[in-house]
Amino acid sequence: MNKRFENKVVIVTGAAGGIGLAAVKRFASEGAGVTVVDLPGTALDVAADAAKAAGGEALIVEADVTNPSDVQNYVDRTAERFGGVDVLFNNAGIEGAVCPIEEYPLAEFEKVMAVNVTGVFLGMKSVVPALRQRGGGAIVNTASVAGLSGNSMIPAYVASKHAVVGLSRSGGQTYAAEGIRVNAICPSPVETRMMRSLEAGLEAESLEAAKALMTASIPAGRYGSPEEVAALVAFLSSDEAAFINGSVYTIDGAMTPH
Ligand SMILES: NC(=O)c1ccc[n+]([C@@H]2O[C@H](COP(=O)([O-])OP(=O)(O)OC[C@H]3O[C@@H](n4cnc5c(N)ncnc54)[C@H](O)[C@@H]3O)[C@@H](O)[C@H]2O)c1
Repeated sequence: MNKRFENKVVIVTGAAGGIGLAAVKRFASEGAGVTVVDLPGTALDVAADAAKAAGGEALIVEADVTNPSDVQNYVDRTAERFGGVDVLFNNAGIEGAVCPIEEYPLAEFEKVMAVNVTGVFLGMKSVVPALRQRGGGAIVNTASVAGLSGNSMIPAYVASKHAVVGLSRSGGQTYAAEGIRVNAICPSPVETRMMRSLEAGLEAESLEAAKALMTASIPAGRYGSPEEVAALVAFLSSDEAAFINGSVYTIDGAMTPH
């Protein structure tokens, strides 16, 4: 495997989740020092062990990405431990409730926006000075196919992921001249806990029927894997993607009509 991240330092948020963990393994296997960030009580030890098993070094930092001081802390602790920061995979997110707008609880709407939008915004805001100190770097924000089109059952999630696309485009334009790249990825359903939760919310005859319904909307005929998403994240974070900035990448088995 290429070692595109030798002497590079990467922060992964949502590192205890499906896509985050796959990204941690991928970055570590390519030589990165990785800070694994997630909520207290999540399986951050598993993520750190996976990074070490893949040949990298790992630092665990517990954080709620909606809390500005937690976010600044994961950046500062990373810089202390590894000497700087080169990449932020801004990936923590929640799905929220599964119901139409008029039934959607306001508190749940606000929570989804706090984690998925404020969390991504704070990550960008706090890491840019650290990336600048290294002479440039990369941010990859996890949006979704829900950031590109509507879905009547997950309105807060859709709104939040459209906002992630907007933040990514804006960040790319703001920092391109400084060699700081900001891109968004838009996965279709991926095999993680989040899809099990969304399938359960669909109230189909069975969980299998819900998954079949979701799969039918994907021309490739299957969900993506976390490892496939991690491969795109690693590419966008690497110097191979030096001219890719402010871009929005679908990884969706042709689900999104363009
Ligand atoms: N699984 C999919 O089908 C899919 C598709 C498109 C986009 N996404 C996005 O991918 C990202 C990762 O999701 P996943 O599928 O790995 O789901 P996941 O639930 O396995 O992982 C999400 C992680 O984010 C963490 N998190 C939640 N709130 C947090 C907070 N306030 N502070 C810190 N960490 C927090 C969770 O603890 C969890 O470990 C999310 O942004 C999600 O919206 C997922």
